[in-house]
Amino acid sequence: MKNADFLTGITTSGTPHLGNFVGAIRPAVQTSKDKNLISYYFLADFHSLIKCQNPDRVKKSTLEIAAAWIALGLDTDNCIFYRQSDIPEIPELTWILTCITSKGLMNRAHAYKANVDENKNTGNKDLDKNISMGLFCYPILMAADILMFNAKKVPVGRDQVQHLEMTRDIAARFNNQYKKLFTYPQVVVDESSSILAGLDGRKMSKSYNNTIPLFDTEKRLRKLIMKITTNSQGPDEPKDYKTCTLFSIFEAFASENEIKAMKKRYSQGIAWGTMKQYLFEYINEILKESRNTYNELVNSPGDIENILKKGKTKAREYSVPFLAKIRHATGIQSLSQ
Ligand code: TRP
Repeated sequence: MKNADFLTGITTSGTPHLGNFVGAIRPAVQTSKDKNLISYYFLADFHSLIKCQNPDRVKKSTLEIAAAWIALGLDTDNCIFYRQSDIPEIPELTWILTCITSKGLMNRAHAYKANVDENKNTGNKDLDKNISMGLFCYPILMAADILMFNAKKVPVGRDQVQHLEMTRDIAARFNNQYKKLFTYPQVVVDESSSILAGLDGRKMSKSYNNTIPLFDTEKRLRKLIMKITTNSQGPDEPKDYKTCTLFSIFEAFASENEIKAMKKRYSQGIAWGTMKQYLFEYINEILKESRNTYNELVNSPGDIENILKKGKTKAREYSVPFLAKIRHATGIQSLSQ
């Protein structure tokens, strides 16, 4: 078995939105089709338990995210698409890595620090209030996800870069302490297209509550696009595309020529209402077919399970023998051999 060329995880808390499509799904779909690459994509459902303890939501989000990735064209025959919790070797490796990870390293993780800071700022005496061990050890589970398949490249958002540094750090500890089994993964952040603006112009993100879900009904999609914040310029005034949220969303989908033509329309003056309607039609056209597939898939979860089962089998062809080696290196071995 060969190492993963590309590997990335998607936390299953929330409904997939346009920002996820541009930042993660679209590039992954491309890579998934490349016959020369081995790419691993997985639903990080164990990670979702850190943020979300509502069982129905975890299940629903897992279904929706799996359906979205498949509907948008992920080549599940060529790549390895699986669910983290289907690979028992991952939590086992997590424990082994936990034992060699210094607590100090985890103290520096920004997600943990942000929570501590919030407790400080709100005057809480207990700085660890509402902080679970899951949140604290989050980067170790993520390191296990990556190291389990010796991934070479890991495409992620900016906020995950620190976790990749920690993964390399943890891998080095293992390699020095026991045996050189782990590859040091490289982080891949696509600066150009990875950040899409949301309804209010800030980065589209679930935490800002400004997302446009990928597969809402046509009607809801239109309604949300109509809500995107613009300035108060009149219909005929020339407009600045550089500061316009509508334009930046359009740009993430359109071809070079279309972008050029739209810039011209901005300079000539395009009414916000016209642009919104145009953007709606444009995005709707892109999503229409996948939306139908998505709806079919969500209504036949057995089909998704079958795809995930296939992914599980392929992924475990790597993880089972590799974990055996890892265990052996630590002294967790048969006594008679
Ligand atoms: N933590 C990642 C995020 O929130 C998701 C994730 C979990 C992941 N395990 C991973 C990403 C392994 C890359 C590799 O975006």
